[in-house]
Amino acid sequence: MNRLAMILVALMLVPLMAHAQVERNSLAQTPPMGWNSWNKFACNVSEDLIKTVADAIATNGMKDAGYQYVVIDDCWQVKRDEKGNIVADPQRFPSGIKGLADYIHSKGLKFGIYSDAGTKTCQGRPASQGHEYQDAMQYAQWGVDYLKYDWCNTGTRNAEEAYTTMSNALLSTGRPIVFSMCESGTAKPWLWGKGIGNLWRTTDDISDNWTSKKKWPDGNCCEYGMVDILDEPAGLESFAGPGHWNDPDMMEVGNGGMTSSEYRAHFSFWALLAAPLIAGNDVRSMSADTKDILENKEVIAIDQDPLGREGWRISKQGELEVWGRPLKDGGRAVILFNRGTADAEVSVTWEQLAYPGHLSTKVRDLWEHKDLGSFDGGYKAKVAPHSAVMLKVLP
Ligand code: GLA
Repeated sequence: MNRLAMILVALMLVPLMAHAQVERNSLAQTPPMGWNSWNKFACNVSEDLIKTVADAIATNGMKDAGYQYVVIDDCWQVKRDEKGNIVADPQRFPSGIKGLADYIHSKGLKFGIYSDAGTKTCQGRPASQGHEYQDAMQYAQWGVDYLKYDWCNTGTRNAEEAYTTMSNALLSTGRPIVFSMCESGTAKPWLWGKGIGNLWRTTDDISDNWTSKKKWPDGNCCEYGMVDILDEPAGLESFAGPGHWNDPDMMEVGNGGMTSSEYRAHFSFWALLAAPLIAGNDVRSMSADTKDILENKEVIAIDQDPLGREGWRISKQGELEVWGRPLKDGGRAVILFNRGTADAEVSVTWEQLAYPGHLSTKVRDLWEHKDLGSFDGGYKAKVAPHSAVMLKVLP
């Protein structure tokens, strides 16, 4: 090849290489599904807990329903050794993290871990600032498949830069690791997160109740009830898609602070929003109701729809709302939502779902698991207080 040809080939490769940088991994083509320790167990994590949770997920139907990643949140780490390597709590994780990862893999599941882009995690444990490549390499050696990366004690760090550094570090290991960015929305990660992470938080932390929006004790904003998360920030659906999802936080289903119908609404919305379905309850001892919610395959299929279009609010009249999401087969997922405290009728028209108004369309109830028939022009249902009716509509 002559010199000119070589230069031309090199010039052609530059955009390809840049593209490879931007593409990152090919993971999370549908929203990740799994379990995380934080919402139920906070800092009370141990090898025993994580193993018994993995045993439960492998045998109680959750694995069959699609739950895959078992993620230890904050507090597994206690210090760095003299070489700067992160050290797991030896009392709580006597077999070490590699032993635990191997165990989880032996159950046919995947293993996730937590760190933070600052000097310390949100619970004051050693975090990854300045150790990004060392930690990423360690995670890869342990067999980590998923990293949740938080945003406490970050000082004046720029979020996009900090997340890019860890993203590059993970990529450099050659191990496929889902990158979950937990920045809470202040730096608007939806604007820059695609190509850096596979999911990014859109708000501060969920709490196990219907509505409770209030500031944290330090005056920062906010703790959110489940419904508060639906209200803000609105209009993010265009930023989500295969490989890069908005994350309205992990689920509280089954943790006891809401009724079963409120939890059904919670799960319906997370599916409509193409949210990561990360259970946060004690799946070793859940009630039949909680299990039915978390394992509702028809609702999960909406979350995992390969088109990957996040849904949005279509109409709101006081306490009554309609939400919808287009699906790969040309159908729509629809939620008829009643936030109020009395039964109410909620209706949707086919035109609101961008179908011709005269269409006769099949409707299926995804909680009743029932075909309701074909309807002309639209559909309406009585919706109980604090409840969601979830439908699949298919012309
Ligand atoms: C932050 C995150 C939570 C959890 C805790 C752990 O608050 O948003 O999801 O990871 O930190 O300290």
